[in-house]
Order: sequence, then structure tokens, then C-alpha cells
Amino acid sequence: MSIGRPQHWADLGCGTGTFTRALAELLPTGSTIAAMDHNATAVKQVPDLHGNVQITKHVGDFVTEPLAMKDLDGILLANALHFVRDQAAFIQRISTSLKPTGALLLVEYDTGSPNPWVPHPLSFVALSQLCADRGFGTVQRLGERTSAFGGARLYSVWVGRGVGRS
Ligand SMILES: C[S@@+](CC[C@H](N)C(=O)[O-])C[C@H]1O[C@@H](n2cnc3c(N)ncnc32)[C@H](O)[C@@H]1O
Repeated sequence: MSIGRPQHWADLGCGTGTFTRALAELLPTGSTIAAMDHNATAVKQVPDLHGNVQITKHVGDFVTEPLAMKDLDGILLANALHFVRDQAAFIQRISTSLKPTGALLLVEYDTGSPNPWVPHPLSFVALSQLCADRGFGTVQRLGERTSAFGGARLYSVWVGRGVGRS
């Protein structure tokens, strides 16, 4: 995208960068994404540049290590929040890396039943409550689809501080 002011995002649990690339395609020229994962082999596969968006790569644990990124326009967590045991404390902590107008962009399975691949599931209803309790006024479901793995429903959601998407 070539219009709009550059934005600065983090992608936590970026894996090999599938969603990092997808996000880069939506951001204005000159934007940046800090892509973080504790799997160094996966992080190596993330490109340094996608379109006109610069990507910095960070190998680390987003639960136990403080986030180096500050004043972010947004944080993407795609299929990653379900690895976090204390999601309330985690959302509270990463929120401090956002600008006051910053948002969370989340992709999760719409289930409350844990399994080895989704140890701490977060249904849309549970996520909405959790984010509302942390002061986010907007929880907007963007889309959903059936996962290729096991047929579970995946949803994406925009979580912002104001009322309505900014
Ligand atoms: C299911 S994959 C999702 C990858 C990518 N976001 C996607 O949707 O294609 C989850 C990723 O989160 C990473 N991850 C899980 N817990 C993590 C943690 N505490 N710190 C850093 N990365 C973590 C895993 O290494 C893995 O790459």
C-alpha cells in the first residue's frame, strides 16, 4: 500500500512469517514490522523486506522477555496467544508497548477446549471479555474460516482502545 503515514508494528510468534508478509501488504510504504519468535530457524525464513515494508527479526521469548519495541501502532499475534498461560497479564503488559491509539490484531481458534497444539484456547467470547476488562473499547471480529488442521474455526479480530476502528 502506498498511501498513509508509515506505521510500526510487531508480530509476536511470527513463525516463518506467513502473517508478517500478509500484514506488510496492508501497511503504507515506509512502515516497519518487528517479527519475534523463539524459534531461530523459523525467524531466519522471515524476509528483511516485503514490498516497501522493512522487517526486523528478533529471536526471543515474548512471554518472559521484555519487548524492545515501543510506541507501536499495532501488535499482531496470529495463532500465538494460545501458547500464553496468563493471557490477561500478557495483554496488559504488551499494551504498554502500544501508542494510545494502538491496536491488537489477533488470529485465534474459536474454542474453549485445549489440545496439545492449542494449550490455552481463547474463544471469541472469552477474548472479548478479556480485552474489555483491560480497557479496550473495540473488539471487532474481522473474519473467520475453517482451519485446514482438524476443521476448527479460526477467527481474526481487531482490538482497539477507542470505540470503533481508528
Ligand atoms: C502456530 S505458530 C504461528 C506462526 C505464525 N504466526 C503463523 O500463524 O503462521 C506459533 C508460533 O509461536 C511461537 N511461540 C510460541 N510461544 C512463544 C513464545 N513464548 N515466545 C516466542 N515465540 C513463541 C512458536 O515458536 C511458533 O512459531
